[in-house]
Amino acid sequence: MTNSRISGFYNMTLDERRAQLAEALLSPSGAPLTPEDLSAWTTGGLSPEAANHMIENVIGLHSLPLGIALNFQVNGRDVLVPMAIEEPSVVAGASFMAKLARAGGGFTATTTDPLMIGQMQVINVANLHEAKLKLYEHKAELLSEADTIDPVLKKFGGGARDLEVRIIEDSPIGGFLVVHLIYDVRDAMGANAVNTACERLAPRVEAITGGKVHLRILSNLADRRIARARCTIPVKELEFMGADGVRTYAGEEVRDGIIAAYAFAAADPYRAATHNKGIMNGVDAVVIATGNDWRAIEAGAHAYAARSGKYTSLSTWNMGADGNLVGTLEMPMAVGIIGGATKVHPAAQAAVKLMGVKTASELAEIIASVGLAQNMAALRALATEGIQRGHMSLHARQVAIAAGATGDFIEKVAAQMVVEKVVRIDRAEEILKGMK
Ligand code: MEV
Repeated sequence: MTNSRISGFYNMTLDERRAQLAEALLSPSGAPLTPEDLSAWTTGGLSPEAANHMIENVIGLHSLPLGIALNFQVNGRDVLVPMAIEEPSVVAGASFMAKLARAGGGFTATTTDPLMIGQMQVINVANLHEAKLKLYEHKAELLSEADTIDPVLKKFGGGARDLEVRIIEDSPIGGFLVVHLIYDVRDAMGANAVNTACERLAPRVEAITGGKVHLRILSNLADRRIARARCTIPVKELEFMGADGVRTYAGEEVRDGIIAAYAFAAADPYRAATHNKGIMNGVDAVVIATGNDWRAIEAGAHAYAARSGKYTSLSTWNMGADGNLVGTLEMPMAVGIIGGATKVHPAAQAAVKLMGVKTASELAEIIASVGLAQNMAALRALATEGIQRGHMSLHARQVAIAAGATGDFIEKVAAQMVVEKVVRIDRAEEILKGMK
């Protein structure tokens, strides 16, 4: 069994952390991390030659820090979560909140079936209502044609599931039809299968409707592929001493502060955008670490947040019956574990292995849990002593590095700036000069 609680991890060297990771992992799959897996993370994993086959005009690689979020328990299973992100405080915030959630039983997460939507825009249709019904009359035939497109997906239980036809009455080009092909993509992200299926069906849709199929592409508003996570934080776990060592925040005060912060995001799109950005700090970091398409996840998340016509919070925070804090998150989660960069990037493969996930749904459940934890970390800080205090020391290190500090000087320059409460590159340069 994996144990996601590794004490003192924060203070270890990089090598010590890697050794701890290998030790903490007795993968449920019986496939513990190999030296190759670990070296995928030390080297960045991707060779320039492999990269050259992935995109065009390659000149090299671009790296990000990879950290491990600790303490996560999702559906009763401990999981060490890899996070690729450049922003300080995110990994620490997720780990700390996972610890608090653990005291309330960890995260409980579910997913819908992995259903993606492919869209066909049918223009130049003489009678939209008649064409719509004709398409429904041919639904079985269209689905069975779409079903043959990906034999591998079919073998693993995926395939075409449904067809829906919408009429757009009014647009800059007048009315047209939109055909939605609902496709179960199992453990794939699914873009290729869905796009291929839409392109394949287009001639038949044209023959049935007498119109012209224009666009054939998946929708990133993947609202049939939802991940849900919830957690309960015992109110006593929320009590804490402020960083000034003087002020203590009672659990009830923190709970109510988090709920009021959520209310702000629920009611105001300006705040909701930032609130959801905090969720995406956690979500994207795992999506990137596993080689998934974070632009697709971002697009889906924000479109889903605006589905009522008013942009709002993706999460909720309320008081449970026993006075504890209860958080929930629901959002589209179109992630895969079998294709694309996840397949070819050794570090992404190692990340999937580290989490011991066997299906895309399991990965989606973990990602939603991390998003919820990250959201709570931000709200807890914002509702108490503010975000800057915790952020400053890590931010100061980045500023120290930017000012040219190396080795021991990084910590020394950063610490001095934090004491002075002046974290600026010009001050970092002065301090560094003085120290040297
Ligand atoms: C910063 O990356 C994320 C936060 O702004 C999120 C939030 O305000 O909830 C701290």
